[in-house]
Amino acid sequence: MDDILTTNDLETIDRARVFHPSTHVSQFTRGEAPSRIVTGGSGIRIVDRDGRESIDGFGGLYCVNVGYGRQEIADAIHAQASQLAYYHAYAGHSNEQVIRLSDRIVRSAGMGMSRVYYGLSGSDANETNIKLVWYMNNVLGRPEKKKIISRWRGYHGSGIMTGSLTGLALFHDAFDLPRAPILHTACPHYWRGTEPGESEREFSKRMAAELEATIQAEGPETVAAFIGEPVMGTGGIITPPEGYWQEIQAVLDRHDILLIADEVVTGFGRTGQYFGSHTYGMKPDLITIAKGLSSAYLPLSGVIVGERVWQALEQGADQLGVFGHGWTYSAHPVCAAAANANLDIVDREDLTGNARDTGAYFQRRLHETFDDHPMVGEVRGVGLLAAIEFAPEKHGGSRFEADLKVGPKVAAACLEEGLIARAMPQGDILGFAPPLVITRAEVDQVVELTKRAVDRVQATL
Ligand SMILES: Cc1ncc(COP(=O)(O)O)c(C=O)c1O
Repeated sequence: MDDILTTNDLETIDRARVFHPSTHVSQFTRGEAPSRIVTGGSGIRIVDRDGRESIDGFGGLYCVNVGYGRQEIADAIHAQASQLAYYHAYAGHSNEQVIRLSDRIVRSAGMGMSRVYYGLSGSDANETNIKLVWYMNNVLGRPEKKKIISRWRGYHGSGIMTGSLTGLALFHDAFDLPRAPILHTACPHYWRGTEPGESEREFSKRMAAELEATIQAEGPETVAAFIGEPVMGTGGIITPPEGYWQEIQAVLDRHDILLIADEVVTGFGRTGQYFGSHTYGMKPDLITIAKGLSSAYLPLSGVIVGERVWQALEQGADQLGVFGHGWTYSAHPVCAAAANANLDIVDREDLTGNARDTGAYFQRRLHETFDDHPMVGEVRGVGLLAAIEFAPEKHGGSRFEADLKVGPKVAAACLEEGLIARAMPQGDILGFAPPLVITRAEVDQVVELTKRAVDRVQATL
């Protein structure tokens, strides 16, 4: 392994043999897009084989919440793999790690949650959600109630149905998505979407009215569920406008429509409370979890099932027998051990509290530094989730020409400065989701490096 890392062949083989996700594959193959072979990490930093260190301002893909190099998680993985690397969870089989994990998740969620169903990715967890919703309505004798409403710019995965839930063209075009019965409603981005004189509250009411009009047009008896991220992530890190979730909830309640909170990014502390649903007072029936559940030390996802859905599942079993939905690796003991060790750290170090306190400091520093910057349209975020949206003017109708590629250029300049921040795929938006262990001094560094990068790009425009 050490030998191979020092050969120059490694990059050549990578370009010839590895099919990278979310990558411009022809440019990468031709050597026109950058390659980086990452070899290690500690705290909020990663290092590559050339010894180049970067502050990871995006926590991998908003997932390495406890930071890199946590030996106690590696030890927990080792111990569990040595004792029992695998046994399945079908037909009532279980393991201690997954039992302990489920109990702490359900307790920490509250909100009438009941059971946890495990997978390995956010995408497969949302596939499970769709099947649960459909199954439930078949059991309840309303087979026509199947449509699921998502939002434009929402992100819920890359599978066939979850890619359909996702509301971003990049994930639909040339894949023949979205598929029925998935519908999309408006993205609640106040700064971009508001009308003159409209308050945030009024905007939220308008978003809810649009949703209700769609439901009425489709027929409420055909609409089963609404799915949303408490804070939109990949669509551009968009915090909900004031009152948004309360207004949406009222519409859903009126038409007996389930709420699926996709907490793949917001779960386990990132917004400053344990779940984004707590931060925004949501009342979900199903919650999607992944990423911060294990801080990506091993893949693990889950669906937290609320009591209302659980009752229907029990009723279904009495009518139909065994619940016919299973993954080989559901409730994997080694992944569960990683998650327990990870959540032990989250709790012991109060990383939720750090996301709240250091997060508030981060938001303040970003506002102070960028609100008046001539290249910045909006600074937004909550906890340790933030975005800077670039625009030539301060109003929400203002955009740079897409060809200028301002967002990607700023992200590239950040990288040269030693900071990973993510150019979000929709618009000129720079996203931040650092590990939840970040300190104020490190926040200062992130803001300073970003300022340098933004100023450098501004000088070229
Ligand atoms: C909100 C949300 N849901 C679902 C997913 C899909 O998760 P995965 O990439 O693990 O399939 C993501 C991934 O970024 C996400 O941000």
